Amino acid sequence: MPSLLEAAQSQVGRKILTGVTGVLLSLFVLVHLLGNLSLFGSANAFNIYSHTLESMGVLLYIVELGLLLTFLIHIYIGIAIALRKRQARPTGYKKYQTKGEPSRQSISSRTMIYTGLILLVFIVLHVLTFKYGDAKMVTVEGTQMRDLKSLVIDTFLNPLYTFWYIACMLLLGFHLRHGVWSAFTSLTMKYKRYSMVIYTLGTIFAILIAFGFLFIPAYIYFTGGHGSLIAYAS
Ligand code: HEM
Repeated sequence: MPSLLEAAQSQVGRKILTGVTGVLLSLFVLVHLLGNLSLFGSANAFNIYSHTLESMGVLLYIVELGLLLTFLIHIYIGIAIALRKRQARPTGYKKYQTKGEPSRQSISSRTMIYTGLILLVFIVLHVLTFKYGDAKMVTVEGTQMRDLKSLVIDTFLNPLYTFWYIACMLLLGFHLRHGVWSAFTSLTMKYKRYSMVIYTLGTIFAILIAFGFLFIPAYIYFTGGHGSLIAYAS
């Protein structure tokens, strides 16, 4: 069995690694979005949810390490694939054509490296803002915890953050639209006849994730943090 490093050097290994890491990261964004939607739950739901995660101790560190490794492999191989394409075709095609196989050339597929690099900047700033951000402490049912709910709401009252997030979530949608299809196609090469189905499902998934995420800053900003979907402790 080839090692991770050997797999990262070969074309087939690279496709499989981007596919596997892409599927894992898609699962992460789905779980993260579902967790974030607790902002619209009861007054303390979001803080309790984040506190429960932070209380997982060593298990959380292991999951975070796995997530970081998955991101790093995905980014390294994504950049390697883009550089190789550029070397093979320095001037670019004027027109995209295929040999008759199902082709999914689109603005999403041609901009994967750019949307990916912007999302990388987004994630670094995002983790600094929230995970390492300066949250106040709050006491909920006798337990002290970080008031991440207020930090998120205060952050999205700032128009610069809100519009940066909305733009990045649209880019995430474009990245996922091609990424999901590409990952499943790389991992299930034998099943080309399902290409159209996978592409459609990937597009639906991308739209749901992008709009789910961008709804949060947009809703907070446009309601001034006081929309009826956000409950506050009385
Ligand atoms: C409106 C959208 C989003 C909100 C409100 C949000 C909120 C948060 C919060 C509050 C944390 C800190 C959790 C804690 O310290 O317990 C966090 C962490 C994180 N978020 Fe988001 N997030 C959003 C979108 C995204 C997106 C689109 C991605 C990836 C593409 C992402 C990736 C991450 C990562 C990697 C972490 C660090 C996880 C860890 O190390 O435990 N987030 N997010």
